[in-house]
Amino acid sequence: SLCPSIYYRPINPNDLDRLEQIHRDIFPIKYESEFFRSVVNGVDIVSWAAVDRSRPDDHSDELIGFVTAKCVLAKDSEIDDLIHYDSSKVEETLIYILTLGVVETYRNRGIAMSLISEVIKYASGLSLCRGLYLHVIAHNNPAIRLYQRLMFRCVRRLYGFYLIKQQHFDAFLFVYFINDS
Ligand code: ACO
Repeated sequence: SLCPSIYYRPINPNDLDRLEQIHRDIFPIKYESEFFRSVVNGVDIVSWAAVDRSRPDDHSDELIGFVTAKCVLAKDSEIDDLIHYDSSKVEETLIYILTLGVVETYRNRGIAMSLISEVIKYASGLSLCRGLYLHVIAHNNPAIRLYQRLMFRCVRRLYGFYLIKQQHFDAFLFVYFINDS
């Protein structure tokens, strides 16, 4: 890692309050309590936390960044048409990245890049996994640059995908293919 004191670990139930708080602080969209419960309990969701071990004791395991994702069947996904299937089509999966965030004071140190790299590493180890995909609001340049740097491909613009305070915003759909998709 570029930052020697930053560690990456799974998210656990002790992270619940902090996870909710950071989501509230940095996303324009409201996530339900059910979502946070599923993340911390690992119910159909995989996640990684970033923590700074150099912080004082009571903060050294506190989330400063996170990524959450879930595994979906490729044939049921919205990018079904982009996957070149072999005969085992029924089984093939994709990892859908739900949320990614780094608290403001820890940005621009490569933490988000490391978090996404963890997801790519994980997905690459799943033999039936064909790739990762995600949505990002069209004006989120820092996030878009990050995904482009990591070799995600923008495959679609989805008009009015997000509804925020009665206003529609477009999304980009980014895909990262693995295992020779
Ligand atoms: N020294 C100098 N610059 C560096 C270093 C370093 N050691 N390491 C990385 N950088 C630069 C990168 O090159 C990049 O530069 P760029 O702005 O020119 O592209 C920049 O720092 C950011 O890259 P990271 O550090 O990897 O990303 P960061 O940890 O800052 O997090 C994120 C990016 C997640 C988008 C953050 O800004 C954030 O939390 N935003 C709010 C929430 C959000 O938008 N999340 C993504 C929505 S999409 C989704 O959730 C599916």
